[in-house]
Amino acid sequence: MLEEISKSIIVALEKRVNFIKKLELEGTDSLRLFHGINEGYPGIAIDKYGDQIIIQTFRRAIETEEIEEIKRIIKSFFKIDLFFSYRHREKGKSHLLYLDKENVNREFNCSEMGLSYEVLDFKQGLDPLLFLDLRSGRRYLSKICKGKTVLNLFSYTCSAGVLAAANGAKFTINVDFSKTWLEYGKLNAKKNNISSDKIRFIEEDFFPVIRQFSGLEVKGRGARKKYTKLNKQKFDIIFMDPPTFAKSNFGAVDIINDYQSLFKPAILSLEDNGEIICTNHTSSVEMDTWIDTLKRCAIKAGKPIKDIDIIEPDEDFPSPDNKHPLKILSVKF
Ligand SMILES: C[S@@+](CC[C@H](N)C(=O)[O-])C[C@H]1O[C@@H](n2cnc3c(N)ncnc32)[C@H](O)[C@@H]1O
Repeated sequence: MLEEISKSIIVALEKRVNFIKKLELEGTDSLRLFHGINEGYPGIAIDKYGDQIIIQTFRRAIETEEIEEIKRIIKSFFKIDLFFSYRHREKGKSHLLYLDKENVNREFNCSEMGLSYEVLDFKQGLDPLLFLDLRSGRRYLSKICKGKTVLNLFSYTCSAGVLAAANGAKFTINVDFSKTWLEYGKLNAKKNNISSDKIRFIEEDFFPVIRQFSGLEVKGRGARKKYTKLNKQKFDIIFMDPPTFAKSNFGAVDIINDYQSLFKPAILSLEDNGEIICTNHTSSVEMDTWIDTLKRCAIKAGKPIKDIDIIEPDEDFPSPDNKHPLKILSVKF
């Protein structure tokens, strides 16, 4: 077992030599080093965030001996000081099972495209605060956002919003119903000297926000309760990265059965010639089926799609059958 896992990790690292150089040139020090499921050893992923190496397992927890071997391989590959942690995920829970003692009380930073981001908070046992697989979507956004107004929906720690603001967007609005994630978003904005007139954070459910921006009526049980009141507003670019499923008083985010309820109000909140960069994380929806759904939805909303481009995840998330579970599209209207 140990030999098998070591071999797979060594092959994965060797494959990434040129890619790591490319990332360094764009100011990125964070990537997936080993994407177990498609690199010969399912159930394990290893990520590098700056000088942090985060090992995660999803099936069986690994032994101390295996952790030590993984550390040895990665240290000898990078030849710099690195700090390791290991967590095992089981039944929706994440257990921190190993932490280099040097990691305690350190600041956790990483860089992507020249910007600095918070990485993770071991004490709270949180997920990494930057999702690496969406890097290619963020890179695309950074190239088209200059002078544009950007709405970042399901913003999490606001990496896309911060990136757009830093790359000359007129302003960005970041929406997430989690106070914790938006606090990290504010920290990320501060770290990168984004002035407050360039970035705004709305702690609110997606549905009342997008429905008010689009001029649609707010629905659901939540409509009778207090929610952030907003005026109708249009944006040049909407970046939308919804979770697979989340239920609230305002409705259900359900990207398998009802992407339309997310996409339609987004379309109606777009300026003419606007663009939506959107994701679908589930492998149970094929790319073609998803694109069809979006096309039909746009026609129904009275704003047919002019063009769609697929944005492939970067090569640190290999997918041998070319069917990455994370699908990213740029949809032009
Ligand atoms: C897949 S993550 C988004 C990742 C993020 N876009 C990024 O670039 O890293 C999903 C986010 O959606 C938020 N969320 C889920 N349901 C929501 C809802 N109904 N309204 C607002 N935010 C929601 C969660 O708090 C979480 O931060």
